[in-house]
Amino acid sequence: MNVLGIETSCDETAASVVAEGRWILSSEVSSSESFHRRYGGIVPEIASRMQLESVACVADSALKSAGLKLKDIGLLSVTAYPGLPGSLLVGTSFARAAAWGLGLPLVEVDHLQSHIYADFLREQPLRLPCIALVVSGGHTSLFLVRDFCRINCIGQTLDDACGEAFDKVAKMLGLGYPGGPAIEKAALKGNPRRISFNCSDTKNPLDFSFSGIKTSVLYYLQRQGSCVVRRASCVGPKIAKCKTQNAQRKAQIADIAASFQEAAFDALVEKSLLACKIKKIPRLSVGGGVAANSRLRQKLASRAKERGLEVSFAARPLCTDNAAMVAGLGFWLHKAAKGGRKIC
Ligand code: KG4
Ligand code: ZN
Repeated sequence: MNVLGIETSCDETAASVVAEGRWILSSEVSSSESFHRRYGGIVPEIASRMQLESVACVADSALKSAGLKLKDIGLLSVTAYPGLPGSLLVGTSFARAAAWGLGLPLVEVDHLQSHIYADFLREQPLRLPCIALVVSGGHTSLFLVRDFCRINCIGQTLDDACGEAFDKVAKMLGLGYPGGPAIEKAALKGNPRRISFNCSDTKNPLDFSFSGIKTSVLYYLQRQGSCVVRRASCVGPKIAKCKTQNAQRKAQIADIAASFQEAAFDALVEKSLLACKIKKIPRLSVGGGVAANSRLRQKLASRAKERGLEVSFAARPLCTDNAAMVAGLGFWLHKAAKGGRKIC
């Protein structure tokens, strides 16, 4: 069966056609990111207006890229929660109207569960049960996944999401939006052990907290006295001095980015491995926007290997928001419901 998935939970408008819950025939993503950049973060009203304008075109383009017509689609699947209310309303209204008009069944899926499913869109997915880490701009959560009808949250962030902390720290460092890829790039040239940042402890050891470390970066910048981030306006004879200052400033920013990134990832790695240990499950799956980060992948893979754990990551284009994961999960849930299984 071919499933048309629609995803509009944040700033992207995405549509995808997936066959049999596994084979991606097309995956279209249109982002309004460039419109938010000048505000340093997502403006919900801009996101939903752009989605309203583009959702029908993006869905049409997903069908065309798959080489299919509407009559070839057997099921619609849409992200229903959690997300920006206006954005979700655009996607769900479109999908409900399309399903009603075409006489097709519709499955409404949970955004976080679809991020978990992203790692299952492959020929050889990780076996179940597994521990899943979803680390994105809106969420940082650990789940015990027995199957896609039995998913239990066993840990979550108590304040900022990891990706949100990356976005805010990048803004403080003048690296622009979205912050995750910018911090990753800057960190490549920095020393991750230069500054000692730490994530706060949590009562439940599987919960996360990223607000404290974000504030530590702010205090560190304030303690530096002269603003690390401010660009000097170089004129005349001052230009050589400014060039040296700029180089020093860039090196300092790289060290802050690398030290922050390493401390945030230490928390993600430790808690994910602890979840495997506590639940006695030797398999870990990782998804969500931050999972696109090479340093996180490298760190988790090597630490998991040391402990004899299997770890797998969603393919990079499926880490950030997309509709293939929505279509895939929709197929699975629809099949389970038809088989008489109660969908939770
Ligand atoms: O999953 P996603 O597309 O949207 C949400 O559901 O939130 O994740 C977006 C988040 C943003 O905070 C972005 O800065 C972060 O993922 N991100 C990254 C990287 N690429 C995206 N964070 C760290 N390193 C990256 N390479
Ligand atoms: Zn997401």
